[in-house]
Amino acid sequence: MSDPDTAHKPDMAPEAGELVDPISAKPHFHRTDSRIAIAGHPIHAMLVSFPIAMTVCTFGADVFFWWTGDAFWARAALWGSGMAFLFGVAAGLSGTVELLFVRGIRVRAESWTHFVIAVMLLSILGANWGWRLQGAVQAVLPHGLLLSLLAVAFTAFTGWHGGKLVFHYQIGVSSTGSER
Ligand code: HEM
Repeated sequence: MSDPDTAHKPDMAPEAGELVDPISAKPHFHRTDSRIAIAGHPIHAMLVSFPIAMTVCTFGADVFFWWTGDAFWARAALWGSGMAFLFGVAAGLSGTVELLFVRGIRVRAESWTHFVIAVMLLSILGANWGWRLQGAVQAVLPHGLLLSLLAVAFTAFTGWHGGKLVFHYQIGVSSTGSER
C-alpha cells in the first residue's frame, strides 16, 4: 500500500536514487474526485448510511425478540434485513460505478480491498434476509440472530474501511471544494 504523504507526486521530479512506485507515478493517480455525485456530494457516501442503520436495527430487533418473544420484533427484523440488503445493493452499485469510472480510484489496491469486503457484506445481508422469508418468527433463534451479529461486524469493518479511503487516502473527495 502506498502512503499518500510519501507517494511520488507526478509534478515532483524524483531525486537521484529514489525508488518510484510505478502505480503512484501514473499521472491520474491523484485524481480521485468523486464523479458519481450530486452537486459535488458523493452518492455512495449518502447511501451507505441506510444499510449501516438498517443492519444495526435488525440486530436490535432480533435481541428484542429474544428478550420479549413478541412476534412484532421478528417481523421488524424481516423488514429491516430486507431494507439493509436492498439499500446495501444500491450503495454497492454507486460505489462500483465510482470504482470503475474514476481512474485514480481504480488503480489503488485499497479501493479493491473495500470492494471485496463490501461484496462479502452484501452476501451476508442477502443471506440474512433470504433466511427469514420462509418464516420470520422461526428464523430468528438462533441463526437469524447470529447472521445479524455477523452482519453488524462486517458492516463495521466495511464502513471503517470506507472511511479510511476517504479520510486517509482522500478517495472520493472534491479537490476543488466549493470552487467547482
Ligand atoms: C460493493 C461495492 C462497493 C464499492 C466498489 C465501494 C467503493 C467505495 C469508494 C470508491 C469509496 C470512496 C468514496 C466515494 O468515492 O464515494 C467508498 C466509501 C465508503 N464506503 Fe463503499 N463501496 C462499496 C460498498 C459499500 C457498502 C455496502 C458499504 C456499507 C456498509 C460501504 C461503506 C462505505 C463508507 C462508510 C464509505 C466512506 C464514506 C464517507 O465517509 O464519505 N461501501 N466506498
